[in-house]
Amino acid sequence: MPPIIWIDGTYHDRASAKVSVFDHGLLYGDGVFEGIRVYNRRVFRLAQHLDRLYASAKGVWLEVPLAKPALHRLVEEAVTKSGLDEAYIRLVVTRGVGDLGLDPRKCPKPSVICIVDTIQLWPQDRYDKGLVALTAATPIHHRESLSPRIKSLNYLSHILAKVEGIAAGVDEVIMLDAQGYVAEASGMNLFAVTNGTLKTPPAYAGIHRHGRRSGVRDQARRPRDRPRPTRPHHQGARQTLQGARNPRRLITTTIDRT
Ligand SMILES: Cc1ncc(COP(=O)(O)O)c(C=O)c1O
Repeated sequence: MPPIIWIDGTYHDRASAKVSVFDHGLLYGDGVFEGIRVYNRRVFRLAQHLDRLYASAKGVWLEVPLAKPALHRLVEEAVTKSGLDEAYIRLVVTRGVGDLGLDPRKCPKPSVICIVDTIQLWPQDRYDKGLVALTAATPIHHRESLSPRIKSLNYLSHILAKVEGIAAGVDEVIMLDAQGYVAEASGMNLFAVTNGTLKTPPAYAGIHRHGRRSGVRDQARRPRDRPRPTRPHHQGARQTLQGARNPRRLITTTIDRT
């Protein structure tokens, strides 16, 4: 099934979907995004994801050139067009085309991109048997330099953590904040189950709120934010990593070789 790609008002196929080399999203990672799941043809918590997208945009002084209801309708339309029952939606708002300097005032019109496609992050056996994870040495962004509430196009710290995992031959990495408290995986939220209680790092630990995290918390009988979870706490619990881009929950079987 081909992906559905919408850029600034026009649908494209994979070959014709292009952005300018002068777009500051490309030149500087200047933009924001959301990753949203479709289960059984229904978009999961679209309104919440849109709220987060617009809040991220506001946080970087970026005005989404489309009203929220219009973007809501567009996403629903693109999903219907895709014909996919299970899908992944990537919504991106970039600063738009400017010059080679980083001044955002030189970019008069932000770009909006919506992609509907499928995604599978690991081979099937990982979903059945679990993942091996490692705590990465690379921390998430320092919250004073780039708020983790802002889902920005700057993912290099997460990519570098992922590279550590690849070099160590493991499936996934657990990222700490600059103080050493557990925050999230490279592209997923983390949950730990201890004695029947679901625990997850609190929003202030430097993670993205809402989205699938609140979906999991709403389903749990006894959800609890774990204040300042540390690495040993996490190693000790029965772990769940929640696949942001996969409908199933992923279980980690081994963390840091323990
Ligand atoms: C770094 C990171 N953390 C957590 C998540 C989970 O986000 P959501 O709230 O959309 O499930 C994602 C999803 O893209 C992510 O990239």
